[in-house]
Amino acid sequence: MQSVVEQEPAQAVAKAPSDPPAIRLENLSKTYPGNSQPAVDGLSLDIADGEVFTLLGPSGCGKSTTLRLVAGLEEPDQGTITFAGKTIVSVADGISLPPDKRNLGMVFQSYAIWPHMTVEENVGFPLRARKFPSHGIKDRVAEVLDLVGMAGMEKRPGPLLSGGQQQRVALARALVTEPGILLLDEPFSNLDAKLREQMRLEVKLLQKRLNIAVLFVTHDQVEALSLSDRIALMSAGVVQQQGNPHMLYEEPANEFVRDFVGKTLLFRGRVETANPAGPMAIRVDGAPDCVVFGRSYDPDGVAAGTGVFIAVRPEDVEIVPAAGGAAPAGMIGGTVSAALFIGERIEYQVEVDEQRVIIIYGDRHDPLAEGARIWLRLRPDGHTAWPSDRSAAEETKDR
Ligand SMILES: Nc1ncnc2c1ncn2[C@@H]1O[C@H](COP(=O)(O)OP(=O)(O)OP(=O)(O)O)[C@@H](O)[C@H]1O
Ligand SMILES: [Mg+2]
Repeated sequence: MQSVVEQEPAQAVAKAPSDPPAIRLENLSKTYPGNSQPAVDGLSLDIADGEVFTLLGPSGCGKSTTLRLVAGLEEPDQGTITFAGKTIVSVADGISLPPDKRNLGMVFQSYAIWPHMTVEENVGFPLRARKFPSHGIKDRVAEVLDLVGMAGMEKRPGPLLSGGQQQRVALARALVTEPGILLLDEPFSNLDAKLREQMRLEVKLLQKRLNIAVLFVTHDQVEALSLSDRIALMSAGVVQQQGNPHMLYEEPANEFVRDFVGKTLLFRGRVETANPAGPMAIRVDGAPDCVVFGRSYDPDGVAAGTGVFIAVRPEDVEIVPAAGGAAPAGMIGGTVSAALFIGERIEYQVEVDEQRVIIIYGDRHDPLAEGARIWLRLRPDGHTAWPSDRSAAEETKDR
């Protein structure tokens, strides 16, 4: 993009795609006093205008710290933050804009609406704090309450609201100053599963309407996959992979990403035809006629004849009752060793021939008995391949 601008500086039209990102983090690091490990370690990210960008990762990986650095609630030890090309923080240059000058809205992990205030007072607070003309506050508050589906609830005291309503008020309060950036730190974590789903959808629709950049934090991969344009998966303060949800699910860069995003079944196999540029043919151990295609993202490639684990997503395996004899082409045999009915489906523990034990989901309408022989039909392609030189303990570990 930059080269287009450099070649034709007079062409203003070339500017749009090369506009500076809404948020740019460059080489951002933070170690809390007394800690030996950094909470955030050399983090660099670009978030575009109108994009929902999610920081995903296990507890303690540095998600909230990153958000707090962006909000100005913590100071980094190193790095820069720019909003739409404007420097907000530069450790090298001694720049750090105070939080109230950053034009952003934030909803915290433990949402805090003030219990001694009504809905209207809660939402109007940031405007009053900024000395917004008092005659305009009422209208602005009404507008933003309408936006989050809380019109008419202005006079309701904070404690007389449900969890979902409180969350909407917190969202309205974050949006009332019309920020260019919205920071959301696990905003739905206090809600029950149904309400969380509903709020997820509402926030997505709202974000589309407002077209603002949203930096969203969650440790819930379903929430991340369904809400985000792009995701950065973090571990120990470092981004392991960033990309759109499909990329993280289908092209995991390493085992951490593969196992954090979605469930994985590992089958042993051997590479039959190597292909550094695309999918390789891999023969599944214990099933002479079962060859599937999978990619390796190992930059060194995988040679023909190498033993690998084929990582298969559970939805890419179909259970077929065995009709006797050896498994037909494309299938591998197994025996059901346990069946757990969990409502919408049945979870089977399956001892796969010459493989490890796997857990697989089956249809509740056609239950299989414990001890039943089955065949597993693997989707012929779209899998990933991983080195299999692991300890026996790791191999038997359930994923
Ligand atoms: N105020 C603090 N003082 C010292 N250490 C802190 C502080 N806040 C966070 N940490 C440490 O920094 C690391 C990152 O914490 P952070 O809160 O960013 O994690 P997180 O990814 O948001 O986790 P969670 O999903 O549990 O909210 C953790 O090891 C945590 O213990
Ligand atoms: Mg957190």
